[in-house]
Amino acid sequence: MKVLLFGGAGYIGTHVAISFLERGDTVGIYDNLSSGLLENVQKGSKFYLGDIMDREKVSEVLSEGWDAVVHLAAAKAAGESMTNPEKYSRYNITGSLILITECIRHSVKNFILSSSAATFGEPGYVPIDEKHPTNPTNYYGYTKLLIEENLKWYSKLKGLNFVALRYFNAAGYDTEGRMTGLERSPQNLIPIVMEAATGKREKIVIFGDDYDTPDGTCIRDYVHVSDLARAHVMAADFLIKEKRNLIVNLGSEKGLSVKEIVEASRRITGVDIRSEIGPRRAGDPAKLIASSKLAEKELGWKAEESDLYTIIKSTWDVYKRYN
Ligand code: UFG
Repeated sequence: MKVLLFGGAGYIGTHVAISFLERGDTVGIYDNLSSGLLENVQKGSKFYLGDIMDREKVSEVLSEGWDAVVHLAAAKAAGESMTNPEKYSRYNITGSLILITECIRHSVKNFILSSSAATFGEPGYVPIDEKHPTNPTNYYGYTKLLIEENLKWYSKLKGLNFVALRYFNAAGYDTEGRMTGLERSPQNLIPIVMEAATGKREKIVIFGDDYDTPDGTCIRDYVHVSDLARAHVMAADFLIKEKRNLIVNLGSEKGLSVKEIVEASRRITGVDIRSEIGPRRAGDPAKLIASSKLAEKELGWKAEESDLYTIIKSTWDVYKRYN
């Protein structure tokens, strides 16, 4: 299969490239390197330097003919989206619509969207299944939901089939060390804890300990990025075989609190990571845990490397080199 990954040099995209390359697919990587890194572009793939806002360049690369497109080119920090929504309107909404409409023009039939659990907002019940109402509490989640909705329309009107993968909290690194470049200015919990462990940061600030959870800190479902990556390959096969749309959750089905992550990181790194409690961050739901039953039923997917030890250890193995 010939697959083009927009945002394929980023944190998740690199792992997705590894999964497709592993089974011998032809992989193109389109990235503006704003957060992605050239160092992460995998051997055996073809790299295109470009921005998804550049319609001409997107069109030129799509004209080479692709069996499937994976769209991972987006800004992804829920907290930042509440203070700088303009950035999210531009890349996540306008950029995605440029990409989708160019895919239609070039008769791409199979589209995989990197979506998010942030589409749900504050859960009415957990585990969250795909029937759960969508009510994003941050602007980032709204941008993902809007693109899912557009894909439904374009599917109806223009015959594009799509799979939207609603990632819960992506974490961990390739356990075989094929991704070496670290994310620049990471904003997610585990990389920040790792930076506190290497001394790049003085401490980790825990955003609120007065949530309605057992230890008062937010609970999230951390899913290993290599598990997420495999789901993209399965989604591409699904689209080619089934020729229909699918929106699925991808999570480990286990919840971990911020404090549990910090404590496990102390144990696994052997570093006495400093932490302090700070105020809540706007837009943070107290508890997100996935039901991934539908992904198992439709794609045959299940999290396999998403245990806490593998997630923290594989991340530390990459970060400790920068110690
Ligand atoms: N947190 C801290 N301190 C920090 C950073 C994070 O306490 O310095 C807390 C947050 O408040 C939250 C938890 O750690 O409770 C996880 O925060 P992240 O920023 O790592 O992740 P989010 O849950 O906010 O969002 C992530 C992705 C989104 C995705 C979402 C889906 O960044 O793209 O998971 O669950 F949509």
